[in-house]
Amino acid sequence: MNRTVESGKTLLVDGPASVTAVSGKVEVFGSVLRSTRKVVIREGKRLPFAVKETAMFDISLGENASVEEADGNTIPSSWTKAYEELSSLQMRPLTAVVLGTVDSGKTSFCTYLINKLLSEKQRVAILDGDLGQSDVGPPCTIAYASVTKPVADLFNLEAKNAFFVGVTSPSKAIDKVMEGLASLRKEVTTDNPDIIVINTDGWVEGEDAINYKVQLVEQLDPDIVFCIQQKDELVPLLDTLEKFRRVSVDSPSTIRQRSREKRRSMRELGYIKCLRNAKVQSIPLSWLKIEANELTGLSITRENFGQASRIYELLGMKPLHFAELRDKVCIVIGKRRWINTDTIKKVEEITKKKVVVVRKGEEQGLLTALYDAERKFLGIGVLREIDYKRRVLKVYTPISKDISIVATGRVKLDKNLREIPVFAEEESTGFHNA
Ligand SMILES: Nc1ncnc2c1ncn2[C@@H]1O[C@H](COP(=O)(O)OP(=O)(O)OP(=O)(O)O)[C@@H](O)[C@H]1O
Ligand SMILES: [Mg+2]
Repeated sequence: MNRTVESGKTLLVDGPASVTAVSGKVEVFGSVLRSTRKVVIREGKRLPFAVKETAMFDISLGENASVEEADGNTIPSSWTKAYEELSSLQMRPLTAVVLGTVDSGKTSFCTYLINKLLSEKQRVAILDGDLGQSDVGPPCTIAYASVTKPVADLFNLEAKNAFFVGVTSPSKAIDKVMEGLASLRKEVTTDNPDIIVINTDGWVEGEDAINYKVQLVEQLDPDIVFCIQQKDELVPLLDTLEKFRRVSVDSPSTIRQRSREKRRSMRELGYIKCLRNAKVQSIPLSWLKIEANELTGLSITRENFGQASRIYELLGMKPLHFAELRDKVCIVIGKRRWINTDTIKKVEEITKKKVVVVRKGEEQGLLTALYDAERKFLGIGVLREIDYKRRVLKVYTPISKDISIVATGRVKLDKNLREIPVFAEEESTGFHNA
């Protein structure tokens, strides 16, 4: 479909769609589109094509995609001012943190800053700290990339390294998010960028969120903090960050809010992208270090255990796997096996530790991070099985080499890479900003 749009207007396209500006002058988030460039808009995303000189578009629309025209430029003037303030700062590397609630335009604002900086020949890196709606790395990770060409969607960048947090919401893993940000922040600096743009998750309202965000910003110690807000929802957070240079920017009014289901399906596109060409790899457990997770019952922190035979007697069976960890005992039993609560209590009395009983099969579907021996992140996979008898781990992943360390998250995917609940009780509680 062809469509002509006059200068001064903006074409808003809701994906899945692809758009080429065949003639005229068009900008997407601060970058000028070349006439040969086809821009793909994912499902759940909306892209604004700001027409600077009357343009002809070639548009292909997928299912449920739509196009509309808006008057003027939908990029708020406060974004332009924010960029001017950023570019006036001389320190290098310059670090900018972007804060905002879910669907406020954080990713788009980062994209806009990055494109503007690239047009000034700056060396730019993005550190993506939003694990629930990650743009750069796989879902449930923090990741960074250096950006050398203008981008319409940060999703198309290739991550240089990622840190697996293993959950979709920071409220469940604050320490891990901090650890990941600190370590990648250090690493990104060794690339010598002029500017590091740091995106964050959308958990910003309420006392816990404010405490977390303050801790996060203090740790990153940025030169400038951008706060995207519709009205004044970030004021309590801004007030507690008074020692930083803070700039408030507007959330574009043309943003389309996404439901929790939509956000989940956007994450699923992320799993699909990262698991393209995946196969089931079988790896002997003896080659691997497995980081603690009670759903696998396997752990690198296993200790010697002298009372095993007494406990097997109590259980009336030899479990598939038995491990005593620092703070608990993991017992893996067959799918149809059962241990009554009295027996569990007795084992707890003997060991003076909490007993976790895992049924074989419960590990199936766990989102898994794969690392090499130096703990460099290789990619993600989905755990298919731990075969305790043959001592083999089966994981669905495109990574075929160098896997030495495996860490499982608290997210489960079915065979179609759709998220399914891991622990039933977690579905109904907790903060959902992912
Ligand atoms: N100026 C704009 N005009 C039209 N659409 C916009 C504009 N800015 C952002 N959008 C679109 O609105 C949607 C939400 O924006 P964006 O993804 O940047 O928000 P976010 O805060 O990063 O959201 P999330 O919490 O999901 O990470 C996106 O589809 C984006 O492309
Ligand atoms: Mg985002």
